Amino acid sequence: MKINQPVSEKIGAEILEIDVALISEAEVNIIKKLVYDHKIVVFRGQNISDYQYIEFAKKIGTPQIYPQENYHHPDYPEIFVSSNVSKDGKKFGVAGTGRYWHTDCAFLDQPLPLTMLYPKVLPNSVRETYYIDMQQVYKKLAPNLRSYIDGKYMVHEAKWRYKVQEWDIDKAIIDILNDFEKKFPSVKHPAVIMHPATHEKILYMSQGFTTGIKGLDYETSQELLQELFSFIECDEHIHTHIWKEGDILLWDNRTLNHKASSVPKGEKSVSYRIGIYDGLPFYVS
Ligand SMILES: [Fe+2]
Repeated sequence: MKINQPVSEKIGAEILEIDVALISEAEVNIIKKLVYDHKIVVFRGQNISDYQYIEFAKKIGTPQIYPQENYHHPDYPEIFVSSNVSKDGKKFGVAGTGRYWHTDCAFLDQPLPLTMLYPKVLPNSVRETYYIDMQQVYKKLAPNLRSYIDGKYMVHEAKWRYKVQEWDIDKAIIDILNDFEKKFPSVKHPAVIMHPATHEKILYMSQGFTTGIKGLDYETSQELLQELFSFIECDEHIHTHIWKEGDILLWDNRTLNHKASSVPKGEKSVSYRIGIYDGLPFYVS
């Protein structure tokens, strides 16, 4: 196993000369430390089966079974499928996922600590994933903005990102939203969370899922959220991963906001995600 660590505050470590299907427990411990320290670990040149992918995830932690079944791989419910390609003549996963800033499952009581992503089909042109280190953003936050959110809770919900499915035909939009909300009621998390492994403070919010700040009236809350989003999403905060054939990425989903690039019309894209619970609380106070 060869490790290339990033310089200074840059995120992302690269791991070469390893077959993740044959990884040892000692190597897994090194990788977990790397992902907490550098936020992203890129494994290059991998070629593993779906079963081996899940076995690899199980060495790191407990794979999530995503609560919406239409995202599941038909043979492996641990694999969340993002795909615009059908399989055996049937719809396979969901197309166009995650093209907005978010962290995975922020709208659940127990959001995902780690996310692993393994593209199976890359578009011919380019596929990128963008990241923002919210630990660094918190450090750079202007004191006035910080004073507004320190000690506050934020509201997170997924209903505005729900993707209409075949079974929604003939339903009124309000009923679709209400049904979704019954299954996934909004949750609250501290605006600033402390990472259980690094004890660093992280601004925990994203344009995709964060819809309010508790204790503030609607107008003030919306105004403040917009001000925060425009600071968070400025170009200098964005790290771009350009995918290469055989890459597997593992990232710290407590710390990084991320967003997928769009797939150009007519091009194919299939990615397999496994969400991983690492056995630590999502945050400590
Ligand atoms: Fe995502």
